[in-house]
Amino acid sequence: MKRVSTTIKLGNRLLAWYDGQHRKLPWRAPPGELAAPYRVWLSEIMLQQTVVKTVIPYYQHFLRRWPDVEALAAAELDQVLHAWQGLGYYARARNLHKCAQAVAAEHGGVFPGTEAGLLALPGIGPYTAAAIAAIAYGLAASPVDGNIERVVARLYGVTAALPGAKGELRRLAAGLTPARRPGDHAQALMDLGATICLPRQPQCGRCPLHRLCQGRQQGIAASLPRRQARAQRPTRYGVAFCLFDGTGRLLLRRRPETGLLGGMMEVPSTPWREAVWEGEEAAAFAPLATRWRRLPGTVSHTFTHFQLALTVQTASGGRPAEAGEIWRAPADLADLALPTVIKKVLRHGLDAPT
Ligand code: ADE
Repeated sequence: MKRVSTTIKLGNRLLAWYDGQHRKLPWRAPPGELAAPYRVWLSEIMLQQTVVKTVIPYYQHFLRRWPDVEALAAAELDQVLHAWQGLGYYARARNLHKCAQAVAAEHGGVFPGTEAGLLALPGIGPYTAAAIAAIAYGLAASPVDGNIERVVARLYGVTAALPGAKGELRRLAAGLTPARRPGDHAQALMDLGATICLPRQPQCGRCPLHRLCQGRQQGIAASLPRRQARAQRPTRYGVAFCLFDGTGRLLLRRRPETGLLGGMMEVPSTPWREAVWEGEEAAAFAPLATRWRRLPGTVSHTFTHFQLALTVQTASGGRPAEAGEIWRAPADLADLALPTVIKKVLRHGLDAPT
């Protein structure tokens, strides 16, 4: 009985906080109202691997240009890919277009109104299906991503480690989801995770739920969720090439659509392999046969399954960009949404005198 009333209290406090403190985001309806499925879907796809601040201008541009799902379905794929440029992970843009066409052709331009129906569409996984069901259709669905896992693990003081604890966290999130305003509830959890229940330094003093939070009561909030220690990651090695032309522009290329960092821009590099690159071996992968200078030090980056150690070489020289390549002034790199590892390489390579 106590459990039920705590759940109700948590839900009510969360909604009251959301009413007063929610982030004003262009895809959101005012508290208490449902948002249009097209808008929710478009924003959720963009937010899958990209932060809110980056998504906002893209979302606004897409909505102006393609105001509804039928307009997007009628667009050329190339136009969509072009408008997507800078968001990365281009498989998302291809699926976006495919999904719009499926909704237009098979559902009369109306997004399915059930989680299962949404899940059957291209590019829509369990999280996105639940988010659309809750936010656009007011169904008591519970989207659970890494942020919501963290919030729920702390609220309930779950000390079991991820990934094993995923099922338990999902069940707890579902049990917390109210029948009333489930979309606002989901977005309140998102906002709490993004602004207060931060990964390393939870701001419990500002949290509307801190009196009900078991993690906080036990003094273990910041350490949750726990994670299973990983088997040691192997190290892979690569050589990255920063080539500057006569006007100081840098050569970039697009990664293949599928695989790690699919469709994102990078500086040319050797393959990333488990053996160190020795002597002149890497030269065969350089974007220009010229004198390359190896910068001191290495750039390290941790991916889920391996640790990457890149050495960086720089050179000056021009040539026409080939398919998938562009030349960019360093000042104009900011709008490309480069992967973090490439930003690290650029910090290393751009600091060096050429
Ligand atoms: N991240 C994913 N979905 C979101 C939403 N609807 N609002 C804010 N951040 C989000």
